[in-house]
Amino acid sequence: MKTLTTLRGLSRLELNELIESALVHADQAESNEAPGDELSGRAVAMMFFESSTRTRLSFELATKRLGADLMTFDPGTASTEKGESLRDTALTVTAMGADILVVRHSEAGVPDAIHDWTGVPVVNAGDGTHEHPTQALLDAVTLHRRFGSLAGLRMGIVGDIRHSRVAGSLFHAMPVLGVESMLIGPESLLPENEPAGFEMSTDLDSHLGDLDIVYLLRVQRERGTRIPDDYIERFRIDSKRAAAMKPEAVVMHPGPMNRDVEITGDVADGPRSLILSQVANGVPTRMAVLAALRDGLS
Ligand code: NCD
Repeated sequence: MKTLTTLRGLSRLELNELIESALVHADQAESNEAPGDELSGRAVAMMFFESSTRTRLSFELATKRLGADLMTFDPGTASTEKGESLRDTALTVTAMGADILVVRHSEAGVPDAIHDWTGVPVVNAGDGTHEHPTQALLDAVTLHRRFGSLAGLRMGIVGDIRHSRVAGSLFHAMPVLGVESMLIGPESLLPENEPAGFEMSTDLDSHLGDLDIVYLLRVQRERGTRIPDDYIERFRIDSKRAAAMKPEAVVMHPGPMNRDVEITGDVADGPRSLILSQVANGVPTRMAVLAALRDGLS
């Protein structure tokens, strides 16, 4: 793999290779086996121009576990603050020896631009409202570990789909992996154009009993989302809605969650919740992606 800025166009085989590799890394960590030094002698730079907790920390841990050197970068104190262009910053980090760049930015397309400018593999760690490929991959890994296989599962993606880069990547991965998905939310937060192969609905309650996975998305206030007045009444997963789900059904959320907006605390911390498993699977998934990019390095 040369770069990972989108999941668009990845085949089932390519997705499954990444998932399998993540499962191997997860098993190794759980049996306290030392990970292989797959990136020994290499350097991975974190270029986060937007806030992050779990994504950044898990990329950092993944980098260290693979034996690579970690280069961190804080835009708040870096030369971009002095007016350096994004291109010059990226070329500077690369000239210093970064072999892989992990990029998060509020503008869609920045990871691709940085890959074009530098020629170095880039992992998109979230760009604007566009994509967040490793989030969708770690979600697939989490589902694989819970259900054994993804084919035939029914997923409802619920909430602020219009502004969600997580949804942007789920759109490309889930149908290819055989997960039947529908988009559920208020009219104003559903995509303006229905993505091919996804049914859309504004009525969560009429679908709750058919879903294996309820995947909640955060209301993206920083991207201008206004929450409709009846959002909580119609879309929040509380204990009553959780009780209406299938016995084996699960609730997911990429975090950070707004407790009591998308989900109540009892459900987030309850037996249906895979939220902390998603976080835990972020590390082996990002190890799998970084290791796969190694093969694209000269
Ligand atoms: C997401 C993000 O930043 O895109 N969070 C994450 O990486 N786990 C989702 C969000 O911000 O709502």
